[in-house]
Amino acid sequence: MLLPWEHRRKPLLQMDTPQHGHVPVLLPQVIELLAPQPGDMVLDCTIGRGGHALAIAEKIGASGTLVGLDVDPDNLSFARQRLEKSGPVCRFFQANFARLSEVLAVAKIPALAVILADLGVSTNQILSSRHGLSFSHDGPLDMRLDPELDRTAADMVNHLPEKTLADVLYNNGDERYSRRIARTLVRARKTKAITTTAELAQLVRSCLPHARSGAIDPATRTFQALRMEVNHELENLTELLKAAPRWLRPGGRIGIISFHSGEDRLVKQAFRNWAADGRFNVLTPKPVVPTELEMASNPRSRSAKMRVARMRME
Ligand SMILES: C[S@@+](CC[C@H](N)C(=O)[O-])C[C@H]1O[C@@H](n2cnc3c(N)ncnc32)[C@H](O)[C@@H]1O
Repeated sequence: MLLPWEHRRKPLLQMDTPQHGHVPVLLPQVIELLAPQPGDMVLDCTIGRGGHALAIAEKIGASGTLVGLDVDPDNLSFARQRLEKSGPVCRFFQANFARLSEVLAVAKIPALAVILADLGVSTNQILSSRHGLSFSHDGPLDMRLDPELDRTAADMVNHLPEKTLADVLYNNGDERYSRRIARTLVRARKTKAITTTAELAQLVRSCLPHARSGAIDPATRTFQALRMEVNHELENLTELLKAAPRWLRPGGRIGIISFHSGEDRLVKQAFRNWAADGRFNVLTPKPVVPTELEMASNPRSRSAKMRVARMRME
């Protein structure tokens, strides 16, 4: 049986153009499963370029409230401008979703109808050399989404002990050549510090088998693993999952979109625990993944998985 969004040949909402810097993934599924209603109070933990938020804003209307968080001040201010006339009351905070409870308590936000987190990075962040996230655009080896973090990717590749570096690549990036890459980086940094994304990508490629044409770049996993470590991504998600249930109202829904097997595992386990103690129903027994059509039009969506849970009515 086809799910509702699989009937559609076109995206439900065609409001995103490249000038917004990012195409929101699984957009019709987010709207369908999180079901924002007029007047709802909704939290978007990762407002990014505001793509999901704009579609949610249309649903909750002028009587609704949209609370938005992002650690990246540039994305936050872009989203603020994009959303300020969209209808709902908008309350935006430059904050890490790991500190959800603190932010919501200080802002005196009561119970929420919907919580959304679309993890990872937006396309414009990957493409901007400022963030140093991309192996195809040279830039300083930084990778911090939050400019206030004190440790960059360059600090890590130039100072971590070889074994720790290998563990980071293996645990966060599922990189089976983690030891070989760590050895290469440690040898290279004895001669000269590794300071740019191009240098790092070149060193990784130099010690791995050549990629088949059409295969992913051999540096992909290293870059993902370092980014996750620099930004504490798994730790932040763990904190979000601890805090989120107490902020939902009965019947409220939470949706998390992840792009990494370690993240999806954390979400799956947390939702299972919430269901087991009777507080939640899991609405997605299997994660929701993009249609072929979406993957073809937005290759970045390929690894996306969304899980949704609903708090039971008392
Ligand atoms: C995939 S993008 C979100 C895109 C957004 N849904 C849209 O439609 O434009 C992820 C965003 O989350 C932000 N982010 C990542 N980790 C975060 C965290 N721990 N707390 C708050 N924001 C975070 C990133 O800076 C980025 O802007």
